[in-house]
Amino acid sequence: MKPLSIATLCGALLSQLGAANSLVTFPSTEIPLTDFFDNQAASLDGSTGNFDKNGSTFAAQYLPQGPWDYNGITYSLPSTWGQGDDNAIAQGQVVKLLNATYVHELHIVYSGDGTDNEFNGTFYLNYEDNSVKELQFTGKNWWKWPILNWGDIRTPFHYELYGAQKNWNSSQIFQLSLSIPSRAALQSITLPETANTANRLHIFALSMTPSVVPSGQPSGPELSVRSTQFSTRWEDVGSQRAQAVVVTLANLLPGSLATSVNASIDSKYQIEVTGPGVTTVAPGVLYRLMPADQARVDVLVLNNNGTGNATVQIKDSAGNIVGTSDGWPIIPLQENWTPDPNVLTTHETPTWWNQAKYGIFIHWGIYSVPAWGPPQEYAEWYDWYLHNPPNSSNPTWEHHLNTYGPDVVYDDFIANFTASKWDPSAWLDLFDEAGAKYFVIVTKHHDGYGMFDTGNTTHRSSVYLPPKRDFVKELMDTAKAEKPNLHRGTYFSMPEWFNPDFAKYGFGQWPGGLAHNAFNASEVEPYTGILNISDFIEDLQYPQMLSLALDYETEIMWCDIGGPNKTLDFAAQFYNNAMQTGRQVTMNDRCGAVPDFDTPEYATFGSLQTRRWETNEGMDPFSYGLNTATNASEYKNGTTIIQTLVDVVSKNGNYLLDVGPTAEGEIIAPMANNLLDAGKWLKYAGDCVYATDYWYQASQSPSGSVRFLTTPTTFCIVAFNQPNGTLVVDAGGAVLPVSKGDTIVLLGPDTNSTSTTQEGLEWSMDSTGVLTITVPEEQVALVDYAWAFQVTYGGSD
Ligand SMILES: *[C@@H]1O[C@H](CO)[C@@H](O)[C@H](O)[C@H]1NC(C)=O
Ligand SMILES: *[C@@H]1O[C@H](CO)[C@@H](O)[C@H](O)[C@H]1NC(C)=O
Ligand SMILES: *[C@@H]1O[C@H](CO)[C@@H](O)[C@H](O)[C@H]1NC(C)=O
Ligand SMILES: *[C@@H]1O[C@H](CO)[C@@H](O)[C@H](O)[C@H]1NC(C)=O
Ligand SMILES: *[C@@H]1O[C@H](CO)[C@@H](O)[C@H](O)[C@H]1NC(C)=O
Ligand SMILES: *[C@@H]1O[C@H](CO)[C@@H](O)[C@H](O)[C@H]1NC(C)=O
Ligand SMILES: *[C@@H]1O[C@H](CO)[C@@H](O)[C@H](O)[C@H]1NC(C)=O
Ligand SMILES: *[C@@H]1O[C@H](CO)[C@@H](O)[C@H](O)[C@H]1NC(C)=O
Ligand SMILES: *[C@@H]1O[C@H](CO)[C@@H](O)[C@H](O)[C@H]1NC(C)=O
Ligand SMILES: *[C@@H]1O[C@H](CO)[C@@H](O)[C@H](O)[C@H]1NC(C)=O
Ligand SMILES: *[C@@H]1O[C@H](CO)[C@@H](O)[C@H](O)[C@H]1NC(C)=O
Ligand SMILES: *[C@@H]1O[C@H](CO)[C@@H](O)[C@H](O)[C@H]1NC(C)=O
Repeated sequence: MKPLSIATLCGALLSQLGAANSLVTFPSTEIPLTDFFDNQAASLDGSTGNFDKNGSTFAAQYLPQGPWDYNGITYSLPSTWGQGDDNAIAQGQVVKLLNATYVHELHIVYSGDGTDNEFNGTFYLNYEDNSVKELQFTGKNWWKWPILNWGDIRTPFHYELYGAQKNWNSSQIFQLSLSIPSRAALQSITLPETANTANRLHIFALSMTPSVVPSGQPSGPELSVRSTQFSTRWEDVGSQRAQAVVVTLANLLPGSLATSVNASIDSKYQIEVTGPGVTTVAPGVLYRLMPADQARVDVLVLNNNGTGNATVQIKDSAGNIVGTSDGWPIIPLQENWTPDPNVLTTHETPTWWNQAKYGIFIHWGIYSVPAWGPPQEYAEWYDWYLHNPPNSSNPTWEHHLNTYGPDVVYDDFIANFTASKWDPSAWLDLFDEAGAKYFVIVTKHHDGYGMFDTGNTTHRSSVYLPPKRDFVKELMDTAKAEKPNLHRGTYFSMPEWFNPDFAKYGFGQWPGGLAHNAFNASEVEPYTGILNISDFIEDLQYPQMLSLALDYETEIMWCDIGGPNKTLDFAAQFYNNAMQTGRQVTMNDRCGAVPDFDTPEYATFGSLQTRRWETNEGMDPFSYGLNTATNASEYKNGTTIIQTLVDVVSKNGNYLLDVGPTAEGEIIAPMANNLLDAGKWLKYAGDCVYATDYWYQASQSPSGSVRFLTTPTTFCIVAFNQPNGTLVVDAGGAVLPVSKGDTIVLLGPDTNSTSTTQEGLEWSMDSTGVLTITVPEEQVALVDYAWAFQVTYGGSD
């Protein structure tokens, strides 16, 4: 019986009859794990269990119980937590499937027990034909202080020291799905070895989505709607605001059928969403979907306060309905944001941010005057390092004493922060030529000196102190007038190191309270410009954030550090104001609550992350502010910028690359030139970066020196090593979406995707899916940094 497959030939008949060909529901099957349980993570009062080797546990009362349905996948979680072992610590155990099965996707519920960054591991997939494939995995830890981790299951606190105390940092469990090669049946999965015992991977549940294996030759792709999600993103269509609905489609045929006829989508398919109050105004479009693959498309709908469920309808190139899928809950476009974390947490990064991929970060302030730090210390932290510790073991203290003497305090640098050569137009021209699509300027760092009009919150700002200019306004206004194509963002430090009004909230390296003179501890240093306020959060932090949102119209609120905050109130006003003024805005994960995206710092994720994220780092090997102690030859160059950007984008991230201007306001030539080098590449190969999406199967392919990106009509293979005349792409068991009739070009100065002179390169694919492209050495030689091979699907033009 095959009621679920899609017979393209029958489509016309079915649609004539008005019959709905219902698509197979995206399946999931639990993989029993209880035999491996060797740790108790949760407790009712903290007295039992030990998640982290130190007597800490999740608070059992906040965890979902029993069969847990999340994003359409069912997991088996304990029906009563806190009664015994509830997870397996990954240490190379071999989890056998009951029967060898072709597997489409693996689903994991996990948490790491370290306290800050993510960790990498490798699953090994053991197949019936004795082949073994690696599956890269990047996991996150259960809590992270002071910057937030935001999980799929969130608890408000966790127990410490066997229940002796509670830690009120929100604590997390995560869910992740990974695509699985299906060229053979899978027999078992070897869990990662946790190399670092201070940071162990705990697995609570495993589930899998089996492939659908036809009894004979496939009669069509085995389509299934993986998910349908009404988003908070919108586009103007005429005078109306159309909501984006993300539909993710899977082809559940196994990869072993990659070359079978009728197994793939290989012409234009359209995806529509309808339901009570919901009509499609711009269908999603898809030209290719191979066995074992998935793709997500935006469908634009008018959602007239729709209620109930929506139906997804898939039409082939002839306009016949080839399948429908219903039961997808309709959520109207959110237009009234309230300070409710459950509502705010649905907010998403806007479409423009998702497509922009590349931004420039600017660290410019009083710290640009000394512009100094030893290796592995951020130069913008000068004020902190000057005081910690205040003795000759400290290179910043030594440097300050030798350069300025003991009588100069940090605030004396304010007089020398002149901006005398600052030309905002020149900065913006540079960012644009560099290929960036947005910028984020530091409006106030931890030293508390604002680069904008801080009004009655404090006069510690460039408007009230030298050089008496509103830098943020000048940059925003110039960008609006001259570079409307660049989106405008603002960095903002939530705490301040030495603000006396922050002392009552102080923590860690942000204690608040005046600094003691680094050379004479009996004296306190001035905190120039401070006004008499009663509460740091109410009278300074919150109004400053609101001003950046409402007066300066920031599009990205890029907070730092988190900690005490009024972010829920802020976010509601920020989003409501943006809605009313027709803008789409976003907020990062360092504002203390409800993040849109994660921000690894001087780090990238080792594998694909489906949550939105953005790597940030300096041109300098380890500083955001200008560090004159760094040799300019150490700055990121064209190669490192482009390869990092492509790597990050291929894993669903954005890249925010920082420059540190001088106190006079110049971006020094070695930084500017390297940015421009990268910009030249983006001019011809940008079609393989901007507005691309990650490739679903990328997590299967140990990526070596190539990366993969997709658009509805193209597939990009970006090689980091210069090809010698042939490029051989072994996707490690994944099914490359390349087939007869496709055209492959190397994007170069003479051959970008829209130039008409290009000719396709010769290519071939063998039976194991290895692709070989032949490319003339003259073409290869014209390209620097990375070689972007763009596959255009036959029939897509
Ligand atoms: C255990 O917790 C105590 C108290 O919070 C802390 O001082 C200690 O460093 C922790 N030890 C480990 C190994 O995390
Ligand atoms: C495994 O295969 C056996 C024999 O074909 C079958 O009886 C059993 O139901 C299968 N188990 C599962 C979980 O599919
Ligand atoms: C978060 O964890 C840090 C480090 O253990 C601790 O100092 C802080 O008090 C915690 N925050 C809260 C709100 O409990
Ligand atoms: C949805 O309903 C609200 C409240 O009744 C109304 O203000 C709003 O205009 C409606 N939106 C649409 C798109 O009909
Ligand atoms: C919506 O679909 C779900 C199944 O996904 C079903 O349980 C529910 O009853 C449907 N609701 C309505 C209003 O039809
Ligand atoms: C400020 O600039 C003057 C003139 O260049 C210089 O002599 C002085 O050392 C600088 N002082 C500080 C604190 O930067
Ligand atoms: C600052 O001015 C605003 C608007 O006039 C006012 O609401 C607020 O109370 C003032 N804050 C302080 C600390 O004076
Ligand atoms: C942000 O503020 C909320 C409300 O006061 C608080 O619960 C939360 O812990 C704060 N976030 C951080 C990271 O401290
Ligand atoms: C994980 O791997 C990525 C890429 O190889 C690397 O950039 C990152 O630093 C690694 N993370 C950790 C915690 O080792
Ligand atoms: C670019 O920087 C990388 C990493 O520092 C280095 O290996 C490479 O040689 C540099 N390339 C050029 C052309 O200088
Ligand atoms: C590709 O080249 C054409 C003609 O040279 C140019 O007009 C177009 O802007 C280029 N496209 C990109 C993405 O750079
Ligand atoms: C190019 O390099 C590949 C492997 O790196 C090698 O197999 C092939 O022979 C080389 N081709 C030429 C034309 O040098």
